[in-house]
Amino acid sequence: MRPSVSHLLASESPSPNVTVSGWVRTRRDSKACSFLEVGDGSCFRGIQVVVDANLPCSSLVQQILTGAAVEVEGELVASPASGQKWEIQARELRVLGLADGTYPLQKKGHTPEFLRTIGHLRPRTNLYGSVFRVRSRMSFAIHRFFNERGFFHVHTPIITASDCEGAGEMFRVTTLKQGAQSKPEEDFFGKPAYLTVSGQLQGEAFACAMGKIYTFGPTFRAENSNTTRHAAEFWMIEPEMAFCDLEADMSLAEENIRDLIRVMFEECADELDFLTKFVDKALTQRLRQTLDKPSERLSYTEAVEILKKSGRKFEYPVEWGEALQTEHERFLAEEHIKGPVTIFDYPRAIKPFYMRQNDDGRTVAAMDVLLPGIGEIIGGSQREERMDHLLAAMRLSGLSEDEYSWYLDLRRFGSVPHAGYGMGFERLLMFVTGVHNIRDVIPFARTPGHADF
Ligand code: 4AD
Ligand code: MG
Repeated sequence: MRPSVSHLLASESPSPNVTVSGWVRTRRDSKACSFLEVGDGSCFRGIQVVVDANLPCSSLVQQILTGAAVEVEGELVASPASGQKWEIQARELRVLGLADGTYPLQKKGHTPEFLRTIGHLRPRTNLYGSVFRVRSRMSFAIHRFFNERGFFHVHTPIITASDCEGAGEMFRVTTLKQGAQSKPEEDFFGKPAYLTVSGQLQGEAFACAMGKIYTFGPTFRAENSNTTRHAAEFWMIEPEMAFCDLEADMSLAEENIRDLIRVMFEECADELDFLTKFVDKALTQRLRQTLDKPSERLSYTEAVEILKKSGRKFEYPVEWGEALQTEHERFLAEEHIKGPVTIFDYPRAIKPFYMRQNDDGRTVAAMDVLLPGIGEIIGGSQREERMDHLLAAMRLSGLSEDEYSWYLDLRRFGSVPHAGYGMGFERLLMFVTGVHNIRDVIPFARTPGHADF
């Protein structure tokens, strides 16, 4: 494999013979030579290529406009220009693919809104290149985090018949013809099937066999909320642990976030600098503060009291028993705690059937981690391991015992306390990159009305 631009820029010494391929970002001509800045997406920067006007290949230079793909052979030498250690003195230059003056990324400074309309080209920009390098490294770091702690990675199914969150926000998967009068039994799976909203239920089966597992995959929600934090297709990290209670679950969740912030500092330093300069001036400082500050926790009941006493006029009323809205979550994280905060023990009535009932009879062992600027990033709970309690909760939610009999078996045979959580991968990326819209941290975002590219 030929070295990437990032590899060449990190060279320790000059080299008489190197080859680089990439896309031309800028071209400048002087009498004696032309300068091409060539980037290949491997890092934030491009490498400067100098093409001497006396070289036979210099006749090609005039065709090379921004966006063209080239391959250059030459010598890696110390660059006299400031701000770059190395440049390439070209010997051979080949044009792999021309780009003409209609290439949409001629200049810098396009708005995210415009760039979303050219989602197939936007990874070539500095901003999206940075965001998607961070996305890739974070994904790898998540696998490392769980692997180092003895978790097994389980591929839970993408097509499922059970609505884990019970919110009825599922996309149907069917081979039945539209408009035809057919019965669900005639469908491909012999019953209605959907795209999963969470791998948790299947994750529980594996945790109750292999101890500590996690799943990290795409999840789908047909909620019609057109916000900057919701996507119809997003990725979720879901650890599930047998012999684990809410306390240990919250500790792992908090450590998970810290670990990924550390990765941002240690493995994405160039991107962090760029994002702090151009996307969110407070980013580096906010991440640093989050790392330095110990995680804080509040019970839901305490959180409601704080919100009530705040004297703040909220759009949605604050009342014990009501769900916390984004404005409430953001007040708690941004103004009250000024950092991440974990809220636990939520009212039973507003949470899904699988959460463990607390002894007070009105709350469940649930937790949400809230972040400044984001709101909820993690939702999790200890699971109800007692058969009678679980059956009662399922009846209340109107769930069929037959459909969930496999899930009930986990309580019938060797039931153990267990807990887990789900972290929204895109919300995490928004937090570590400072990017404000979820559409800009997903390679090709799916939101209501949009499934482009
Ligand atoms: O709180 P949620 O709905 O929890 C679950 O699905 C549990 N079954 C997870 C578990 O315990 N294994 O979703 C978890 C997280 C949220 O905190 C949020 O970060 C993210 O998933 N999320 C979304 N991200 C982007 N777009 C959406 N529409 C999202 N819905 C949830
Ligand atoms: Mg939630």
